[in-house]
Amino acid sequence: MTQEDVFKNLIAHAKEYGFIFQSSEIYDGLSAVYDYGQLGAELKNNIKRYWWDAMVRLHDNIVGIDSAIFMHPSIWEASGHVGAFNDPLIDNKDSKKRYRADVLLEDYLEKIEEKINKEVEKGRKKFADGFDEAQFRTTNPNVVRNVQKQEEVSRRMNDALRANDLAALKQLIVDCEIACPVSGSRNWTDVRQFNLMFSTQIGSVSEEANVIYLRPETAQGIFVNFLNVQKTGRMKIPFGIAQIGKAFRNEIVARQFIFRMREFEQMEMQFFVRPGEELKWFSHWKDARLRWHKSLGLGDEKYRFHDHEKLAHYANAATDIEFAFPFGFKELEGIHSRTDFDLSRHQEFSGRKQQYFDPETNESYVPYVVETSIGLDRTVLAVLSSAYSEEKLDNGEERVVLRLPAVLAPVKLAVLPLVKKDGLPEKARDIMNDLKFDFNCQYDEKDSIGKRYRRQDAIGTPCCVTIDHQSLDDNQVTIRERDSMQQQRVPIAQLRRLVEEQVSLRKWLERM
Ligand code: GAP
Repeated sequence: MTQEDVFKNLIAHAKEYGFIFQSSEIYDGLSAVYDYGQLGAELKNNIKRYWWDAMVRLHDNIVGIDSAIFMHPSIWEASGHVGAFNDPLIDNKDSKKRYRADVLLEDYLEKIEEKINKEVEKGRKKFADGFDEAQFRTTNPNVVRNVQKQEEVSRRMNDALRANDLAALKQLIVDCEIACPVSGSRNWTDVRQFNLMFSTQIGSVSEEANVIYLRPETAQGIFVNFLNVQKTGRMKIPFGIAQIGKAFRNEIVARQFIFRMREFEQMEMQFFVRPGEELKWFSHWKDARLRWHKSLGLGDEKYRFHDHEKLAHYANAATDIEFAFPFGFKELEGIHSRTDFDLSRHQEFSGRKQQYFDPETNESYVPYVVETSIGLDRTVLAVLSSAYSEEKLDNGEERVVLRLPAVLAPVKLAVLPLVKKDGLPEKARDIMNDLKFDFNCQYDEKDSIGKRYRRQDAIGTPCCVTIDHQSLDDNQVTIRERDSMQQQRVPIAQLRRLVEEQVSLRKWLERM
């Protein structure tokens, strides 16, 4: 099965088991908007908690806030989003389909990459053991030509994007002879800029002055509360403010499931530091955030840094933590050293000083900021896609299992009476009623025990406990572990400890 097939199966699985639904499905859906079902909501909450506790609870110099989605429109002028939060768009005149010009070019570059890889694979087969890939890549004429083409196109694209030269972007699409995937024609409009912010009106009168935006990032809610929090929390630099919340972007290219959405959630932290110390903290947060990701145990090889060579005008260092999604390595989290850009701009636009008096240096200054910004939905996708596994068992049966990190699993414990009579359901309910204060438990008495195990595997429940006739006499039950499927007979009194050992937030966070 190809990666693409597995990804399709994962999307179907996420729907079938109540993790993620297309929004407004009964009205044929709304593109790039998704709803989280009963298990998706639990999974998301568990990820939020894992992030919040790692960032806020475990750092006595980081506090969390919850700012409003609606903010004063001047904030988006100051932050630069009104002027520059744009995507370059192009329409095909025949299909009337709209594309991001840079994405058309990136797809074109990906196709060249595929050609190169095919050529390399051909060489590997031809030369077998004597194959030297590095030498092949630098000497095979087809590969060399394609690499040169790739470099040339990518250089022209980056130059055009940096210079905001829309005519040059269009020319590059024409020169590469890129055709519309729908109509197959090369009949393109000019490229123009399209602002990604959603706007609406506040109050009852729809006048220009009443236009406000749905926030495209949560970070600005932190910046404009910097002094409120610093003063009321008596925070001393260096300190951080964290926040989890919705953000909205009118993304034109909506694809790859919950990877790129129009309404999504971010988990952001702004760390305020002394000017001149930002690069030290940037490096600190790069390491700390990677450790957080790795602690989830999805596989260390699935992460890599992508340091930005071309920096935004307000940044003096930036990197992405990329994750190996089913469609390749893509950004999961951004870490940016944003200098004093945002606070200084808010100082300028609001006319209010955004300075900190440093008692150690006896100086007032606008702090520098290092930001960590991770997409919650992308984390859900990272977790689900690494956990999803279709397995053939030794006895010839098949199972789909979500090997979720136990700390994130929506249901921690399934309570299963072997039969639904003879007092077993009552005994099972007693266990459930006790343990539901500690863990999210699910009770299930329908179908054979094998089918019930499969259902719990499919939603990633780390522990199943079965109550049988003997349990009524000896107060012991069978606990089954999801990944190994091993079973063990244990006293009911030990259940809480055994489940806790697997799902304890503390144990997982201590791995960081
Ligand atoms: N405050 C900085 C900021 O917003 P960003 O790189 O634009 O930076 C941060 O976004 C993170 O938010 C990304 O790494 C990604 O995980 C997530 N994100 C951004 N756009 C998204 C979208 N359309 N859908 C889902 N997640 C998105």
